[in-house]
Amino acid sequence: MQSAKRRSFLSSLICTAIVAGLSAAAPLAHASKDHPEIGFCIDDLRVERWSRDRDYFVEAAKKLGATVSVQSADASEARQNAQIENLISRGVDVIVIVPFNSKTLGNVVAEAKKAGIKVISYDRLILDADVDAYISFDNEKVGELQAQGVFDAQPKGNYFLLGGAPTDNNAKMLREGQLKVLKPAIDRGDIKVVGQQWVPEWSASNALRIVEDALTANSNKIDAIVASNDGTAGGAIQALAAQHLAGKVPVSGQDADLAAVKRVMAGTQTMTVYKPIQQIASEAAKLAVQLAKGQKPAFNAQYDNGKKKVDTILLQPILLTKKNVDVVVKDGFYTQTQLSSN
Ligand code: GAL
Repeated sequence: MQSAKRRSFLSSLICTAIVAGLSAAAPLAHASKDHPEIGFCIDDLRVERWSRDRDYFVEAAKKLGATVSVQSADASEARQNAQIENLISRGVDVIVIVPFNSKTLGNVVAEAKKAGIKVISYDRLILDADVDAYISFDNEKVGELQAQGVFDAQPKGNYFLLGGAPTDNNAKMLREGQLKVLKPAIDRGDIKVVGQQWVPEWSASNALRIVEDALTANSNKIDAIVASNDGTAGGAIQALAAQHLAGKVPVSGQDADLAAVKRVMAGTQTMTVYKPIQQIASEAAKLAVQLAKGQKPAFNAQYDNGKKKVDTILLQPILLTKKNVDVVVKDGFYTQTQLSSN
């Protein structure tokens, strides 16, 4: 071999060796399915329930041999996108997402899928996107329980509908459930909906302001408030309390937040919806690991997200009133001491 030729042959050999060496050293995406890597992208860890979801999910995933990287977008669309992009470039096996904005994740989900990563929509449905699975409590049922709880306490009069975040598909499903229950009474004229508003980011302080304004606009003549979760119910009840109406106007909720369960016991909140978070979190961890291993999970529903019919695991929510508040203690969700402390 002539020396120039040999040099170029040698250097191409070296190049191949370096490339091979590099790719062997670099973390291989989806390398070990026995120990899958899961990214858990949560909209907003500042909201009480999501820190429970995180804790139970991480615990369950660990038991199944997986590792989890948790991200909180703190209600920022841009931050959530960046966090998902980052997990894609790290080559995780599965990304589990509680979307901040249900409508804007189509592109980033497509990128994940192109990289061979499975995507699970957690609690909130991601719309117009190629997600592999969805897991949630039956949100329409939650809405029905909320409206029924308030309706049983106040079957007539002026109703205010305090919806969830306009960016959250659940907020719409809840409203559908609520209206299913209320519509006959609205049609009969027993109930008059004097106002309805979505609460950006499900924030309690936004809810407070909205209900203060509603009370002013209606000269305090609001007889019932259908609030879509406990955080916003808290804001509504604060506005009612300022007008000495707390406990007189039925208010619904959801999540069995500690403060809300105490309000239910005290009679200022009519009901809440208890969703056993350990159940959704551990089922979701199992689902993530199954998808990573190419196994077939057991689904019990399908939801059309605009792009496809998404295989779904649907769990059942539980109505919580003063009468059955002990359920959360029996379930280990709270201790008796937590419930009775001020
Ligand atoms: C909803 C969720 C509720 C509540 C709310 C605010 O999507 O289903 O449980 O926590 O978000 O984060």
